[in-house]
Amino acid sequence: MSRNYYMAGNWKMHMTRTEAAQLAQDLVSQLRDGKHKYLVAPSFTLLETVSAMIEGTNIQLGAQNCAAEEQGAHTGEVSVLQLKDLGVHTIILGHSERRHVYKEDDALINKKVKLALKHGFEVILCIGELLEEREAGKVEEVCEAQTVKGLEGVSVADLGSVVIAYEPVWAIGTGKTATPQDAEAVHAFVRKVIARLYGDDAASKIVIQYGGSVKADNAAQLMAMENIDGALVGGASLKADSFIPIAKFA
Ligand code: 13P
Repeated sequence: MSRNYYMAGNWKMHMTRTEAAQLAQDLVSQLRDGKHKYLVAPSFTLLETVSAMIEGTNIQLGAQNCAAEEQGAHTGEVSVLQLKDLGVHTIILGHSERRHVYKEDDALINKKVKLALKHGFEVILCIGELLEEREAGKVEEVCEAQTVKGLEGVSVADLGSVVIAYEPVWAIGTGKTATPQDAEAVHAFVRKVIARLYGDDAASKIVIQYGGSVKADNAAQLMAMENIDGALVGGASLKADSFIPIAKFA
């Protein structure tokens, strides 16, 4: 497989600057010899602190969201220009908490995806079904729609800067992980959707992460699946002791 594993920590709305600096420092020293691609995505207020700690290392800096507009009268929003200024490399978009708690729809997410790509960011586009959608047999329908709509108007050249994260909503923060086989089935399906939209070459190259209760004791089984190329880790990314074994899964 030509795809590199991509292990990312989404710190969500946790930590102060002191705590973030300590965690970043621990990750820098313990991941120095790591073989995969690494990212941490702290809150906006922590970006500058973490950026200074990881600059020049093998860990890249991610943001958890951005505004859909470049700049202007948008109280409470954060612009791609401001994120660029802080050394942010990657923006996570369409996270289930943004979709379901903050009611971001596919059109808004797509606008953000295009703006982020236009400004040279890597984008991690999150997709995934709710429990009731899974129980109603709608996993493929939901994941296909979120992928197609999220990527509308994205060129094949820009797709090279896109990573997809499959995060079944029922598995996020619940301790219920999708089985490697269930996750693999969705990953393979999403790759087929990408092949239909962008061709086989693009589909074989795109990295598809899994997210949802990834832990040290299930990471290796998930990563062993053909179409699972990395992890987007929430809770277990908040401590070096729990993230390092995932990031260095054997
Ligand atoms: P948990 O790892 O806490 O389930 O969170 C997953 C997630 O939402 C990462 O973006």
